[in-house]
Amino acid sequence: MAMTSAPGKLTCPQFSGLRRTCPSASTASTARPFLLRRAGGYSAGRSSRTVVAMAGSGKFFVGGNWKCNGTKDSISKLVADLNSAALENDVDIVVAPPFIYIDQVKSSLVDRIDISAQNSWIGKGGAFTGEIRNRAPAYQTPLDGLRQRQIKDQLKTWLVHGAEQLIDIGCKWVILGHSERRHIIGEDDQFIGKKAAYALSQNLKVIACIGEKLDEREAGKTFDVCFQQLKGFADYVTSWENIVIAYEPVWAIGTGKVASPEQAQEVHAAIRDWLKKSVSTEVASETRIIYGGSVSGSNSADLAKKEDIDGFLVGGASLKGPEFATIVNSVTEKKVAA
Ligand code: PGA
Repeated sequence: MAMTSAPGKLTCPQFSGLRRTCPSASTASTARPFLLRRAGGYSAGRSSRTVVAMAGSGKFFVGGNWKCNGTKDSISKLVADLNSAALENDVDIVVAPPFIYIDQVKSSLVDRIDISAQNSWIGKGGAFTGEIRNRAPAYQTPLDGLRQRQIKDQLKTWLVHGAEQLIDIGCKWVILGHSERRHIIGEDDQFIGKKAAYALSQNLKVIACIGEKLDEREAGKTFDVCFQQLKGFADYVTSWENIVIAYEPVWAIGTGKVASPEQAQEVHAAIRDWLKKSVSTEVASETRIIYGGSVSGSNSADLAKKEDIDGFLVGGASLKGPEFATIVNSVTEKKVAA
């Protein structure tokens, strides 16, 4: 586990809900060295525009999840703000508008920013008018009557989109496994894993979300929950090349209660370790692991400094163009001048 250290001082993350203990100073000194990245390769040396504090080798990634927000007018303004923002080059930037505005955004947003959908269907499109089999019977766990009614009501207002249709309208990415879909809609690991596999098979890249609820963290189950959700993806996908993992603790989403950089780093390091052990060293190094949950223009810089944080998935703050630009530009925290 990566630790924060200052000369002569070892700081230990203080987490109530996690099982990891603080390593001793001797083990901390053998922690994985930072990789230094620059255009054209990796080096143990320093140069101008060198990127530091990255355990992974992927490009910084920032996604804006607009969720169920916006109108034609407010989205025009947001797009205009994004189009005029000064954005750092070394970042993959993606925004996820509500389905009904994707076309508007695609036709007005600069090409520099890619578009993501917020969901996609488990398989090929077809006779699923406006939905909506709210669940694929073979994949979902039983729900009680009230829960089923709640879900049915929500689904009446939501559309199901086949991945092919998303590609057709210019989407490159899709967000899958978001906690709002796991815990409000009732999607389970298998259902999400199958959706991811299908999206990837159609050349849609996947932002794969995982994260624990507050009670799970408090019960010391954070890693178990995250690993279980990761396995849900791993069981179905055959390649991780087009997947970005978003660690989003549910207790931090939309609450203004951001995970501390140390809390996020600890879980990100564990996720990378899981990838290494369960998939491969290459996948562990190359897969971006981004953090989501109350990321803002004022906390992104400190989070970005952590070596296993490769970017962000941003909800509320992505609705404000200048603030989203600040978050994108926190990539500069990973750079040092010569
Ligand atoms: P938030 O949402 O930034 O508003 O907490 C993040 C997300 O749900 O992706």
